[in-house]
Amino acid sequence: MKRLNNQVCLVTGAANGIGLATAERFLQEGAIVILTDVDVANGQKQVERLRGEGFNAHFIEQDVSQEASWTQTLAQVRESWGALDVLVNNAGVAVLADVESLTLEQWRKTNAVNLDGVFLGTQQGIAMMKGRGGSIINVASIEGIIGEPLVPAYNASKGGVRIFTRSAAAHCARKGYNIRINNVCPGYVATPMISGGLVDLPSEQAQAFQAYLGQRIPMGRLAEAAEIASAIAFLASSDASYMTGSDMVVDGGYLAQ
Ligand SMILES: NC(=O)c1ccc[n+]([C@@H]2O[C@H](COP(=O)([O-])OP(=O)(O)OC[C@H]3O[C@@H](n4cnc5c(N)ncnc54)[C@H](O)[C@@H]3O)[C@@H](O)[C@H]2O)c1
Repeated sequence: MKRLNNQVCLVTGAANGIGLATAERFLQEGAIVILTDVDVANGQKQVERLRGEGFNAHFIEQDVSQEASWTQTLAQVRESWGALDVLVNNAGVAVLADVESLTLEQWRKTNAVNLDGVFLGTQQGIAMMKGRGGSIINVASIEGIIGEPLVPAYNASKGGVRIFTRSAAAHCARKGYNIRINNVCPGYVATPMISGGLVDLPSEQAQAFQAYLGQRIPMGRLAEAAEIASAIAFLASSDASYMTGSDMVVDGGYLAQ
């Protein structure tokens, strides 16, 4: 049985990586999926491919850090599909700069996408789901649980997402909205975010970091994006009907030791 049959699902940052894998998984589960991203070229290309495979996929250009972009996107969803059942706040960015070299501009940009974007999406998602229910999944990170010297702005933004989710989830549950809101906290995942970050590092540092990850992760490898998507699909579905305000850690055992 398909778990998301005819559910209207919106995934942000879906042109690449975890967002794209989530959109694919939702489509396989029978959903109507709206992929949004600032990367219009890749987003449209992926949607064309998915539609060619017979899936009910659609692309909307969206910058999650902009309130007006959320208002426009959700108005379009309401007009075209009448409702929103599942929202995945996945879009995110990371900048590699330790606390001594990080600029205020980098700090603000990271938090604008990763934290403001999740706040705006959750707030407007609740407004649209109220009265009929739904599920919101916020993609945080193990980097919102522990600190990593190279990514302080990212750490702060993801820690903020984790706690914000709890607050919003408790609010919706107390109000009886039937809207569940949960975090997924991936460990290291093989996506353009990681490969791009490694390319930006001097090669010696990149090699050292890869070697460190190989040893540090008990399962000895990075996650595939599809392995994060399956956790998100679980939280989206009624299989997770008693879960709200929680963190689902998917990290190959990274935090276990
Ligand atoms: N890759 C990892 O190891 C990892 C680990 C933990 C958490 N995450 C989180 O998972 C999510 C997806 O990451 P990924 O690894 O797939 O990264 P990715 O870089 O492969 O994909 C991120 C997508 O977000 C889009 N995006 C960036 N800024 C945007 C904006 N302002 N509005 C809309 N879209 C925007 C990008 O264009 C891109 O398509 C992020 O929130 C990331 O922080 C990733």
